[in-house]
Amino acid sequence: MIQENTIDKALKDLFGQIEFQAEPAGLYDPLRYMIAIGGKRLRPKLCLLAYGVFAETITPAALKAAAALEILHSFTLIHDDIMDRSPLRRGHETIWKKWGGDAAILSGDAMCIEAFKRIAKLPGQVLPEALALFSRTSAEVCDGQQLDMEFEHRSRVEMPEYMRMIGLKTSVLLACCAQMGALVAGADGAAQQKLYDFGYNLGLAFQVADDYLDAYGDERVFGKPIGGDILNAKKSWLTIRAEELGAKGIAEVLNAPAQTQVEKTAKIARMKALYDSVGVADAARQEIKRLNNCATDALASLPEDGKQVLLRFANALTGRTF
Ligand code: IPE
Ligand code: IPE
Ligand code: MG
Ligand code: MG
Ligand code: MG
Repeated sequence: MIQENTIDKALKDLFGQIEFQAEPAGLYDPLRYMIAIGGKRLRPKLCLLAYGVFAETITPAALKAAAALEILHSFTLIHDDIMDRSPLRRGHETIWKKWGGDAAILSGDAMCIEAFKRIAKLPGQVLPEALALFSRTSAEVCDGQQLDMEFEHRSRVEMPEYMRMIGLKTSVLLACCAQMGALVAGADGAAQQKLYDFGYNLGLAFQVADDYLDAYGDERVFGKPIGGDILNAKKSWLTIRAEELGAKGIAEVLNAPAQTQVEKTAKIARMKALYDSVGVADAARQEIKRLNNCATDALASLPEDGKQVLLRFANALTGRTF
């Protein structure tokens, strides 16, 4: 068992020291920037917490896996911000805004490759399984991102389709983080599966919370512009549940123009009025709790001290909304 404060310190050192190639600076400066602006670093933390349930010391292999997971996540964000036309990430200008779309595409590609380079250096006894898990997860995130974009153009998306989409774009990576930690620590297949299930359900809770915060969060804390999903006509948990609860006119508001600042403000306000008319914010908070409970149920048979540390992580992560 490894204590949480030991993991926090290891992560701080890890990301303080991480290095990318110096040249061409135009390609690698955005990678340095993306790591320097931080973010919550939940994925490497989840990996090391899961690792720490089965191990006593943090090895270079565990740190390589943790770094690879945060780097892969950062790659997905660089491309996601192009696709979502988002100007702000982690409270700072996004890479496509700062360096342009072409640079963001290529720096995103380089970021993805940097992640795989680190996985490739894992010890031989875990490498085949780790690489299979990591590459399958990366492909699934792309599948989810494609569905997310396709849903923007559909008039109606049902809740099970939405849950499948967020399972792919968000949950599989958190699941992979938790399983990867257990795998690198030498845990058996059954234990790895429990960690995977924990991460998967936590990922669902986390994406519903992200959708909720996109409408109801505070930009200074959230680090992203409020209302982005509404302006992009995203099918979010809120739009789908509001329709289920009988809100009328969701599709009409999603299709409303959002070119000028006045139009943007009006569109966000109209949508939030529809949400409020059916109490969808409360419903989202309940759903986040329900999914969080599904996540923690997966930990039932783990050793008690390891379970407690993962429960704390889950509660901190999904409780940030309230
Ligand atoms: C953002 O993830 C993408 C989602 C899956 C919602 P995070 O909220 O973990 O982003 P950072 O890494 O802290 O910036
Ligand atoms: C995030 O979905 C999923 C991935 C980045 C793979 P969002 O588009 O909701 O994430 P944010 O809100 O921009 O962080
Ligand atoms: Mg997106
Ligand atoms: Mg986005
Ligand atoms: Mg979002």
